[in-house]
Amino acid sequence: TITAVIMAGGKGERFWPKSRTHLPKQFLNISGNKSMIQQTVERLEALINISQIFIVTNEQYAELIRGQLPHLPVENIIIEPIGRNTAPCIGLASIIIEEKFPDSTMIVLPSDHIIKNEESFIHILKIAVDVARDDRNLVTLGINPTYPETGYGYIQSMNQIQIINEFEVHKVSRFVEKPNLETAQAYVESGNFFWNSGIFVWKTSTIRKYFQELLPQVHDILETMKQAFDLTNREEIIKMEFLKMPDQSIDYGIMEKASPIYVIPCKLGWDDVGSWTALDRISGRDENGNVIRGKILNIDTKRCIIESNNGKLIATLGIEDLIVVDTDDVTLICTKDKAQEIKLLLKELRSQN
Ligand code: GDD
Ligand code: MG
Repeated sequence: TITAVIMAGGKGERFWPKSRTHLPKQFLNISGNKSMIQQTVERLEALINISQIFIVTNEQYAELIRGQLPHLPVENIIIEPIGRNTAPCIGLASIIIEEKFPDSTMIVLPSDHIIKNEESFIHILKIAVDVARDDRNLVTLGINPTYPETGYGYIQSMNQIQIINEFEVHKVSRFVEKPNLETAQAYVESGNFFWNSGIFVWKTSTIRKYFQELLPQVHDILETMKQAFDLTNREEIIKMEFLKMPDQSIDYGIMEKASPIYVIPCKLGWDDVGSWTALDRISGRDENGNVIRGKILNIDTKRCIIESNNGKLIATLGIEDLIVVDTDDVTLICTKDKAQEIKLLLKELRSQN
């Protein structure tokens, strides 16, 4: 069996003020007319049945998921009492999935990425599932890097390549999560690194073994949770145990240390829509390079991202390289080169309240 785990606990803070704590990016229509999580589920349904798709999130977003995905069985929404990053999230999902689908191969993926080439995506997932059949193998989908992004993981190919159904499967020599700029530059120039797309494929039993070896603390907590599966107060125990989880990402905790890893380079039209400037890549621009959404009047305006979310007119004259986003209660005005730092505003705002 193939199963999928969609990680949907993120707060999407770099898309503030459109993305809010009560309605983060994955639940918004950033591209197209469906929310990102709806698109993620739909994409997977070309491969597996909805009953094999699980979503891990927190209590606060469970309601949104039920509303946006009414056909998803409610028991497939896995709730974390608190966000402890992706390693505990994947760990919890793996034991719950194992209970329902023993020995499944799980596809782990974010809830808020864009994939334009859906056919190729499904094709590559099938290959990845095939490679993951060997029960030491961890598989990731790799993207050709186009600039030295420091927010991504980098995967070095060993140049030991197999061809499966016309796709290359590279053995990985090194996985480096979020290198500094200098290192990222060297990686991009070297030509034998890929970006980690954040989409992983492995058997539940495989990842459980790596948890045991590399994150024993997480493993022990998962074992205690499993012992509670038959108890009437299982939910309570799972919740209590989860609070003991360390804050750890799968990338630092497992991918940087594990071997063997395989990467399948792919051209998916992938974008992680990491900040407002992603709209420059994924949306249509006018003849002056502006991305315009909602009621906008602009003259002599260049390379701006302008969005009105409340029917109010935004009028601009003579501005360049700015992000202007208006919502009912907040207006953001920010230079494009600060798009990654919008979190600073939120931090300041929270410290004032
Ligand atoms: N349920 C749940 N719980 N989901 C979570 C949690 C959590 O505690 N933390 C993060 N997520 C979700 C996010 O919503 C997102 O969809 C996904 O897991 C990845 O987390 P990010 O926080 O966005 O990770 P990142 O962007 O720093 O880095 C990852 O993605 C990059 C590609 O976008 C890494 O895998 C990098 O190596 C990779 O290049
Ligand atoms: Mg991310």
